[in-house]
Amino acid sequence: AQTPVKVTVTGAAGQIGYALLFRIASGQLLGADVPVKLSLLEIPQAVKAAAGTAMELDDCAFPLLSGIEVTDDANKAFDGTSVALLVGARPRTAGMERGDLLQANGGIFGPQGKAINDNAADDIRVLVVGNPANTNALIAQQHAPDVPAERFTAMTRLDHNRALSQLAAKLQVPVSEVRKMTIWGNHSATQYPDLFHAEVGGKIAAEQVDDAWLRDTFIPTVAKRGAAIIEARGASSAASAANAAIDHVYDWVNGTEWTSAAIPSDGSYGVPEGLISSFPVASRDGKWEIIQGLEIDAFSRERIDASVRELEEERAAVRELGLI
Ligand code: NAI
Repeated sequence: AQTPVKVTVTGAAGQIGYALLFRIASGQLLGADVPVKLSLLEIPQAVKAAAGTAMELDDCAFPLLSGIEVTDDANKAFDGTSVALLVGARPRTAGMERGDLLQANGGIFGPQGKAINDNAADDIRVLVVGNPANTNALIAQQHAPDVPAERFTAMTRLDHNRALSQLAAKLQVPVSEVRKMTIWGNHSATQYPDLFHAEVGGKIAAEQVDDAWLRDTFIPTVAKRGAAIIEARGASSAASAANAAIDHVYDWVNGTEWTSAAIPSDGSYGVPEGLISSFPVASRDGKWEIIQGLEIDAFSRERIDASVRELEEERAAVRELGLI
């Protein structure tokens, strides 16, 4: 039998954690033939609640789940881990300035990056979900100098999936008919969902919708969907976020021809090297590759640049604060 793969989830007692853990344990993260060991990392006050979730995981009697640990010790949680899903983060509260938010998250993602550096398995892959996800991923990466930089990624797959769903509904086609969707930039309101490379029925999506819908409905609906979910549900998106995390890691490990992920830039498409920015990506042999050679028109250029500028500002701010 295969040796179990250790998967660590931070913020395990939170909303996304609750929607995520059962799917990992059932085999959806890595594949239906890969046994997993789960490590649940929480802050001390939430360890008891995470242990309660662990009891429910036990009660599912998942054949692929070979063990569960619950801890508030990052060194233990990341010891020997191959997949780290960094979900726990400090949310922005009323009146909080960006500097305070980055500072608080630096206090989480810096030490977690170091604990990954010192303890994780050689094949470690990191997905940051906790916001501000791209910059939190950069902070963790910068505290893990022994881990290849490209193993640190941030999640824009939920935005990607939202874009697929909105476009499919508009054109009244199944989502499976939409190809080559791309989210560019930051996982924030400045993100740019791109219909100029997306295809439906082999034809460019942007040519099948009117310009006003693309500009005034599609882009803001995708970018502001998180707020719309909070407004409707009275709670933030959790199941769809967990689903996107599963999609991201599954495709990273098992391969895909085209999706969106925030990965360290190599300078492609004018995105400064090192920024963890969303790109159109493929995954081959367990590695993300930025899809090259796309023509970027003025409309797209302006929007990509605006989102990348925000990432640069966040990077400058965390440098200024001494967090990287
Ligand atoms: P939540 O508040 O329900 O859960 C967060 C959990 O993280 C809490 O249990 C908390 O105790 C834990 N936590 C805080 N600091 C920690 C630390 N240092 N170590 C371990 N655990 C820690 O929040 P929810 O709804 O689960 O969301 C989690 C994060 O995901 C938020 O930052 C949210 O903004 C982000 N998010 C990102 C999305 C994306 O597309 N990238 C989509 C949806 C949410």
